[in-house]
Amino acid sequence: MTTIRKAVFPVAGLGTRFLPATKAVAKEMLAIVDKPLIQYAAEEAEQAGIDTLIFIVGRTKNSIIDHFDKAYELENELALRNKDALLKIVKDTVPEGVNCVFIRQSEALGLGHAVLCAEAAVGNEPFAVILPDDLIYNDGDNCMQQMVDVYSKHKASVIGTQTVDMSESDKYGMVGGPKVEDRLSMVDEIIEKPAPAEAPSDQAVVGRYILTPAIFDILKTTERGAGGEIQLTDGIAALRKSEEVFAYSFEGMRYDCGSKIGYLQATVEFALKHDELADEFKNYLQALDM
Ligand code: G1P
Repeated sequence: MTTIRKAVFPVAGLGTRFLPATKAVAKEMLAIVDKPLIQYAAEEAEQAGIDTLIFIVGRTKNSIIDHFDKAYELENELALRNKDALLKIVKDTVPEGVNCVFIRQSEALGLGHAVLCAEAAVGNEPFAVILPDDLIYNDGDNCMQQMVDVYSKHKASVIGTQTVDMSESDKYGMVGGPKVEDRLSMVDEIIEKPAPAEAPSDQAVVGRYILTPAIFDILKTTERGAGGEIQLTDGIAALRKSEEVFAYSFEGMRYDCGSKIGYLQATVEFALKHDELADEFKNYLQALDM
């Protein structure tokens, strides 16, 4: 298999950092300007050539299922009023030829467990994992497109990484290994949320992965790790004992939309790029007396 057709979106988390906004609405449905985080993630996958979107949802995530479903009443209403541009926006949440699969993760046992829930839907082929909290913007090829290119060349698992301040190592999976080419390293070590002194380097895992299906059998026997959860990071640490795994330092800007400050930064910067809003919003910011 030389191409990546399927992407897994683990979206069962409770989103406690955004309560009460996330009491009744999935955190992935929070909008950056006018588009929910989950849709940015879906579009990144689609642009990378992926045609099957597999959402691992929790009990309280029905808004995500609704978002990617047909909205009959709304579509009829918009059609009657000749609101063609809006109708297109609503219909395009799932473009032609793209399929959505929804799987319930009945217990919140961690990211590794969420990915394992996708096994039957993925089958025996390499697949992408996208964490919608990590919103990544790039002017050229998006992050997943870049990673699909790396996969096509090396036919091995690829993890998206970026440089972080060592003091933040305990927020991320941290990787270490020798550089093989521009932006690409081997993963020799990968540790979930180590203290700065234990981190193998300053390269942090962000929420983009391409994994070979060998990860599934490994995750079945992966024990609970950091935070008492079944960690994808621990599964990848085991995977690299039998296969090469690469770390790819993507081109682009990542916003940690799982944190309030990252969410606000993304909101401001996406508004400043928005076709309808950019000028007015820029004027507003300039006029703020701070
Ligand atoms: C997860 C992963 C971690 C990764 C991070 C990126 O952690 O477990 O390895 O660095 O996403 O956002 P979480 O942020 O869900 O605690």
